Order: sequence, then C-alpha cells, then structure tokens
Amino acid sequence: MNSQPRGIPLGTSDLRVSPLGIGTWAWGDQLFWGYGRGGYTDADLESAFHVSRAAGINLFDTAEIYGRGRSERLLGGFVRASDDRVIVATKFFPYPWRWRRSSLLRALRRSLERLGLDRADLYQIHWPYPPVAIETWMAGLADAVEAGLARSVGVSNYSPAQTRRAQISLAERGVALVSNQVEYSLLQRRPERNGMLDLCRELGITLIAYSPLAMGLLTGKYTPETPPPGLRGRRYRRKLLVQIQPLIALLREVGAGHAGKTPAQVALNWVICKGAVPIPGAKNANQAQDNIGALGWRLTSEEMAVLDAASDALQEWE
Ligand SMILES: NC(=O)c1ccc[n+]([C@@H]2O[C@H](COP(=O)([O-])OP(=O)(O)OC[C@H]3O[C@@H](n4cnc5c(N)ncnc54)[C@H](OP(=O)(O)O)[C@@H]3O)[C@@H](O)[C@H]2O)c1
Repeated sequence: MNSQPRGIPLGTSDLRVSPLGIGTWAWGDQLFWGYGRGGYTDADLESAFHVSRAAGINLFDTAEIYGRGRSERLLGGFVRASDDRVIVATKFFPYPWRWRRSSLLRALRRSLERLGLDRADLYQIHWPYPPVAIETWMAGLADAVEAGLARSVGVSNYSPAQTRRAQISLAERGVALVSNQVEYSLLQRRPERNGMLDLCRELGITLIAYSPLAMGLLTGKYTPETPPPGLRGRRYRRKLLVQIQPLIALLREVGAGHAGKTPAQVALNWVICKGAVPIPGAKNANQAQDNIGALGWRLTSEEMAVLDAASDALQEWE
C-alpha cells in the first residue's frame, strides 16, 4: 500500500491536490472510449474511484461534455457516497451558440446539478475557441467565484499568450488563474517547446497534464500487431506504434531499475518530475492502482535526460 501522497498547492489557491489526479473522460464516453460496450462497467469505475481515494488521490477531472454529462453524474455519485475532501474539477465547453458570459453560469449550474454538489473546486474553460473573447469567459469565471459556485478557476488548451491574457483579465477582478490543462506526455512535448511549462512556473499556475499516457500508448500494451481499438486505432497509425517501441523498451528498462515499475508508472513519474500534475484516465481498479504506483519515488536526472532524448528522437504524430 502506498503511503498517502502529500498535497501540492493548486496554483496560488489554498486548495491542495495530490501530485497525480484521475481523468474521467472514459466514464460514460461511448464514441471514443467504448463505454457501455462491455469493456468496463460502472462498478469498475467506482472501484477505480475508491482505490484512488484509499491511496490519497483527491483530484478528479471531468467535463460537461464527457459522455454528455454521464461522467459528471458518475463522479458526483461516487463523491457524494464517500467523503467531501475530493477536489472536483469540471469544464465549460464554449459551444458556438454560447456567446454571453451568463451562459457560463447557466452551464456551471447544470454541471453542479449533475454532480449533485453545491460548487466546483475547479471550473475550467475547455478550449479557447473563437469568436468569444477570452476576457468574456474570464468575466464569467470571476462571476462563478463571486457567486460561490467555483472555489477556483482555470483554463485548458490555452497557448502561453492566451494564458497571460486570461491571467491578467481575472486578476482585474481579484481572481487567480490556478491552472492550464494541456496535453503533455513523452509523446507530446509542446508545453516545453512553446514555453507553457516555464510560464506556469513564472505565474504560479499549475500545469495539469492530460493524456499523460498518450491515451494508453505509453503503457506498452499496444503494439503494431495489437493496436488500440476504435477511433484511437485510427488516430495512432501503425507507423507510430512501430516508432515508439524503442521508447517503450526504455520505459521498461528504467522501470526495472526502480523495483519493477511499469512503463505507465515511469511515464507518469516523468510528467511529475517535469513539474506538472498528470491526470491519467482509469477505467478500472487495476489501471488506477498501476498509475498510483507513479507516486512515492522519483526518476534521477540522468534517467530524465535519457527519456527526453528518446522522446526527442520520435516524431510527434500531429
Ligand atoms: N482538456 C482537454 O481537452 C482534455 C483532453 C483529453 C483528456 N483530458 C483529461 O485527461 C484525462 C486523461 O487523458 P486520456 O484519458 O485522454 O488519456 P491517458 O490518461 O493518456 O490514457 C487513459 C487510457 O489509457 C488506458 N490506461 C490507463 N492507465 C492504464 C494502465 N495503468 N494500464 C493499462 N492501460 C491503462 C485506458 O484505456 P484502455 O484500457 O482503453 O487502453 C485509459 O482510459 C481524461 O480522462 C480527461 O479528464 C482533457
């Protein structure tokens, strides 16, 4: 059993989160993750939640669009049946028909209804889609804090320039931008290359790393012969699965030097050592348990350098 991880501050807020959270996109999503097609059940998701809580994980990330609200409903049910020390992060989706800041409060109230909670611990703008100005949504987020419906606010998929704009706009209302949630993994290094990671450090913003296992690829269970099912199989061409095998072999080798850590655990520890908070998705207790094994130890700087080099040698798939 892992010792309980120490919480780290969420941005400059007084909220403390575990150094690793759990992502819940697959909790109810049929199209991409195959929810409802027999691979995993609500009982599996509940077990993933409880295993995580028992290990001291308190950050759970959802969104109104995940499973068209099902993820929020499932997560809210698990949270209400357990304890109130969970940090629930959800997101507002800027659909094209939403263009007034008041639509944000309406969407948040509906998210809270599905969650069955009085307020969200972290409310995030899912994407910086035009045409609505960043300042409009930031005003909506500040309204949410003032109305007591959100304890803290963040953004997602924002570039460094958009993050600065968001931070300045919120600061004018006396509200802190606590996080930017972006894709970050050994197969997606953009946050390092575009300066996002440095900017987060400079501004005291937590970088929440989504798809930290590259949607399962970094677990090593998918190979050119056994690609991931469904849409993921189409997204990750056979060529990429061939290309990443040396990196997977390296993850195994490095893990072996840490009492048999799995590729997933090494890949997640790499994100943590970079200074970000990974939120791997987990469909069942085994996956959650495996991912929690990324906590309580650290890769050495030499191992980080070797992993960086192996990742640099790969072409990103975009
Ligand atoms: N803000 C955004 O725009 C955005 C976008 C994407 C994701 N997110 C958030 O980030 C979270 C995580 O990202 P993600 O779900 O895309 O990808 P991920 O965490 O990289 O991969 C999750 C998937 O990998 C497999 N897996 C996880 N742990 C495993 C283990 N230990 N052993 C074997 N397989 C394992 C599972 O799928 P299989 O078993 O089917 O392989 C799982 O659903 C999401 O749930 C969501 O909360 C946010």
